[in-house]
Amino acid sequence: MKFPTYPARVYVAEYRLVLDSGRAASTRKAADAHRWRVPSLRNLVYTAPYFHNGSVQSLPEAVRVMAGTQLNMSLPESQVADISTFLEALTGKFPVQTMPRLPPTPGNMRE
Ligand code: HEM
Repeated sequence: MKFPTYPARVYVAEYRLVLDSGRAASTRKAADAHRWRVPSLRNLVYTAPYFHNGSVQSLPEAVRVMAGTQLNMSLPESQVADISTFLEALTGKFPVQTMPRLPPTPGNMRE
């Protein structure tokens, strides 16, 4: 998704959100400028700092930035707190991960 959608918001300069051109840096397409993969919001309390450049340290501030830059809204602090509490509730066990055994590279069949 594009981020920031509303680049005139003060957060954009404060957190230098448009220094990196996002997906366009690899595709060279203007339409991909400032497009980012939206990360999972699960276990968000463990993944600060937020956004592609890690410029935002706290969850309430990330919520303010999102409301401003993506919805062109300034939320009352009570709603920022409610949304942050909801996002904190997305905390849970990390799934156990096992490393895959990849097939050998063609032409290099050694184990
Ligand atoms: C109040 C509503 C919203 C909340 C609470 C919210 C919350 C968040 C949070 C906490 C992150 C940071 C995730 C991380 O870095 O680990 C994030 C990233 C992102 N969100 Fe939102 N979001 C909202 C609305 C939106 C909307 C409406 C859009 C799209 C139109 C959007 C698009 C994105 C994108 C593209 C990112 C990744 C940005 C980057 O990595 O720089 N969000 N969101």
